[in-house]
Amino acid sequence: MTDTSSIAPAPVGLDDGYAYTKVALADGRMVAIPSRARVGSSGVTWVHRGQQRIFEYETEEILYSVGAVDGAPTHFEGYPASGLNRVIVQHALQEAGLAGRSVHAVSGLPASTFYRKNGEQRRKPIEQKRNSLKLPVNPIGDRLSAAIAFHEVIPEALAAWYDHVIVEQDGKALLDESRLSVPIAIVDIGGRTTDFVVVKDQGILHGSSGSLQCGMLDVKQIVANGIQERFDLESLGEQLVAHAVEFKVVRLHGKDYDVGALVESAKQQVVERIRDETRRQLGLGVELDRILFVGGGTVALAEHITNWFPHQTIAEHPAFANARGMLKYLRYVCEASDAA
Ligand SMILES: Nc1ncnc2c1ncn2[C@@H]1O[C@H](COP(=O)(O)OP(=O)(O)OP(=O)(O)O)[C@@H](O)[C@H]1O
Ligand SMILES: [Mg+2]
Repeated sequence: MTDTSSIAPAPVGLDDGYAYTKVALADGRMVAIPSRARVGSSGVTWVHRGQQRIFEYETEEILYSVGAVDGAPTHFEGYPASGLNRVIVQHALQEAGLAGRSVHAVSGLPASTFYRKNGEQRRKPIEQKRNSLKLPVNPIGDRLSAAIAFHEVIPEALAAWYDHVIVEQDGKALLDESRLSVPIAIVDIGGRTTDFVVVKDQGILHGSSGSLQCGMLDVKQIVANGIQERFDLESLGEQLVAHAVEFKVVRLHGKDYDVGALVESAKQQVVERIRDETRRQLGLGVELDRILFVGGGTVALAEHITNWFPHQTIAEHPAFANARGMLKYLRYVCEASDAA
């Protein structure tokens, strides 16, 4: 066992979304795992350790399985401060090679959970989330836990704005003045929510910011319903549906069926809702300098969101924009005294 007491805490940007948990590390690595876990033991004994695909964790005396399990739905109100969230985050930290390390983290909440419409912060959910991730999680077996010693929470889409305005060059962080001074909208298409944030003069315009409860998990739900109907099935595994959305094929009774048309129509429905809300929130965006699209949904729906605005851009590795911004916020904005 290594003596970890002399090793400095690892700074991480931790975007623990409803669909994927993304981790950005100071050495530039980015790690993502599906936000997929359930209560109870895996019921599987692994013959070869290297092939283990389900991992067990305990928190607040409840045992969870994380990994290749049919995940319990994460889209419930209390998810961000739940044990389910904690074990998924712990597993992501393990996958990022942080076992046994002390971790300093910045994570996020959807803008509408973070702020009231009048711009006030909602203290309760922010506190709950901040405290939840600091509770211990023990990996079952001989793995060491990664312990979050410092944890700050910021609005998710604002993290992407930090990613946009803080530019790292030759190991130094610079504020890009030309990006800082102009009004910009961030559209974050995620699993459960699509977040809108407009930033002007380094402040959030709350009237044009908010969250729509619609994202890639809705695509998954529509596809699940369609498959159940077409093949007259009573229930359907969550991993099977995820595979169907990604590869447009579903394997039933050992045979592959093409579900491309179903997946396309599900995407169309979701895109239409997101486009309508984008228009409602941002209008034609004439006073904005740029509309920046981020989030995994931006990748999954790329061909459907071209040409919404003449001045739209897609962030680099859009699914990781928030996590990168959270890491930059931790390293360059959080006061050193806070993290000490
Ligand atoms: N590289 C990729 N290629 C294709 N699709 C992707 C990719 N990355 C993510 N996705 C899709 O985008 C969806 C949303 O991913 P994302 O990580 O943004 O969600 P999330 O942050 O977990 O959700 P929320 O923000 O609502 O909590 C995923 O369900 C997945 O279907
Ligand atoms: Mg997200």
